[in-house]
Amino acid sequence: MPTIHVLNGPSLNLLGTREPGTYGSRTLVEIEAGLETLAGAHGVTLRCAQSNHEGDLVTWVQEAGRAGEPIILNAGAYTHTSIALRDAIAGTGADVIEVHLSNTQAREGFRHRSTVAPVARGVIAGFGALSYRLALLAFLEGDPADGGGIEGMRAGGSGPRP
Ligand code: DQA
Repeated sequence: MPTIHVLNGPSLNLLGTREPGTYGSRTLVEIEAGLETLAGAHGVTLRCAQSNHEGDLVTWVQEAGRAGEPIILNAGAYTHTSIALRDAIAGTGADVIEVHLSNTQAREGFRHRSTVAPVARGVIAGFGALSYRLALLAFLEGDPADGGGIEGMRAGGSGPRP
């Protein structure tokens, strides 16, 4: 069964109580449960993990990238600072969709820069928990005719990357 990784960075374990006006009231466990249901309906396994440590995220990105398994990545504040994460993605050719609950471009200037975005397939931000679902749908429904999407992966295509 194809596997998609959902990786979350620092302080995303606090969702539910963390600045709910910005990040909503759903916990990470609730968000992940909804994603699992959607993925399961498509016959896809999700691997969900969260860490407050940059090195954990680097290791997980490397593992998924080397396995050729797509990643939905909310790197939290590391999005704006981590050259190590950027290099792990570029170095393994990991297929990453960067997600954010909030619209980072509409917030403080230091959130406008992403080290991840230039090596990601795309960025989805500003839709709350729905940002994760939109990213999952992007991986699940990439055009099989182009060898993309999970159907394309099953058919032996190159995977979701167009
Ligand atoms: C965030 C946005 C980041 O700027 C912030 O540091 C976070 C959460 C989001 O999901 O909106 O931790 O990634």
